[in-house]
Amino acid sequence: MVSKALLIAAVIAYVEARFGQEQIPIQAISQVQGGDAGAAATIAGAAISDLLGAANACDKLVTADKIVADLGGGADAIAAAIGMVTAEKNTNPFANGNVQNVCGDPTLPATAELRGITPLIDPAVDVNGDVAALSASSAASPLAADGLSIFDLLDQAGLGDLVVAQQPAGGAAAGGAAAGGAAGNANNNQNQNANDQNANDDANADDQAAADDAAACDAQNADDANADDAQNANDNQAAAGDNNQQGANNQTAAGNDQAAAGDNQAAAGGADAVAGAGASTLTGGEDFGQCTPTITFQGGEGNRPPTEFTFQIADPLARGGQGEALNPNIITNALCNQLTNVCGANDAAITACEAAKAQVEAAGTRNKSTADLFNTALGFEGFVTNPAGGPDDVPAAGAAANKVRRSFRA
Ligand SMILES: *[C@@H]1O[C@H](CO)[C@@H](O)[C@H](O)[C@H]1NC(C)=O
Ligand SMILES: *[C@@H]1O[C@H](CO)[C@@H](O)[C@H](O)[C@H]1NC(C)=O
Repeated sequence: MVSKALLIAAVIAYVEARFGQEQIPIQAISQVQGGDAGAAATIAGAAISDLLGAANACDKLVTADKIVADLGGGADAIAAAIGMVTAEKNTNPFANGNVQNVCGDPTLPATAELRGITPLIDPAVDVNGDVAALSASSAASPLAADGLSIFDLLDQAGLGDLVVAQQPAGGAAAGGAAAGGAAGNANNNQNQNANDQNANDDANADDQAAADDAAACDAQNADDANADDAQNANDNQAAAGDNNQQGANNQTAAGNDQAAAGDNQAAAGGADAVAGAGASTLTGGEDFGQCTPTITFQGGEGNRPPTEFTFQIADPLARGGQGEALNPNIITNALCNQLTNVCGANDAAITACEAAKAQVEAAGTRNKSTADLFNTALGFEGFVTNPAGGPDDVPAAGAAANKVRRSFRA
């Protein structure tokens, strides 16, 4: 008993010294009062490994949920869990372009009090401090996060290029959530050969859960395409070898070979799984004010390549400063908000917009059919979704590849 407490204290001291991250929430977790005797210390000890460079970015969200679930759900548990959500995950500045993975599973964290909160990332990447500022403000006042992953929240704030969406390890969480969340159950095997990247990994914590000198190898299939909605799910992550070597006050990199394994993805059933999908959401009293509530889907928006298709609000007034997005839910959410904020739409119009938005979210698709679904629901069937004149849809097989490329763009 004593030795366990001492071990945890020692590990906390070690990790804080090792990573120099005072925001590490381990201490706070260990001090939560609720739960079974020793449970807080156990979770705190295990939580350390979630913050190491080799950890999956979704793991710390699972742990944050566990803190609330297992430690009584009191204010101290919530605060400790928020600390886990916001905590910066250690990364290796010398490997893989110092990629900053954030969780792309929209179902995580599941705890209501923990949703809408974004994490810190390496300040060397967050050079302007915008990610840190959003983390602080969202911890105090969470963002609206229905259907959105942590990656989506950052992307929505214009910070998506600083981070990469990562699937839960093994896809178990996303797979189950996806099938349930979207009420879909069509099986869809897709191979997304995402970026095999050789990375040097430096998770050289030497004791406890952190790192053993054994080998571990991550196969991370970071993909914002299927990351953030119920559309897709399971990334297989295969483990292989990761040599951790310890250098005096330095991080010695070892090999960590990432291989994207084949995905076995449970895809949402789409429109046929959703009652009323494709149906008009209008009741007759809608007034959309100064805006036309339609969305586009086309390639080459912003500085993207012509082959990369994104969604966008069609109406310039409604669009405002909104950037185009790979995730249609970001755009439909923004449009419905703008109806209130700038368009002068009435309540019936906003209700109809929210219903159309829900249809898109439930459909879980990302192609022309998605934009058509939304536009049709609001009475704009046949609205031209590619006004720039390029192709009107992605080739079915090309979609995944395009999204993967985008997700790894630094
Ligand atoms: C420490 O890391 C730096 C940066 O990569 C490297 O240049 C240096 O050789 C390392 N020193 C040791 C002792 O490993
Ligand atoms: C749109 O995407 C969904 C899901 O990937 C797919 O089932 C559907 O066939 C696509 N629609 C078109 C028109 O390609």
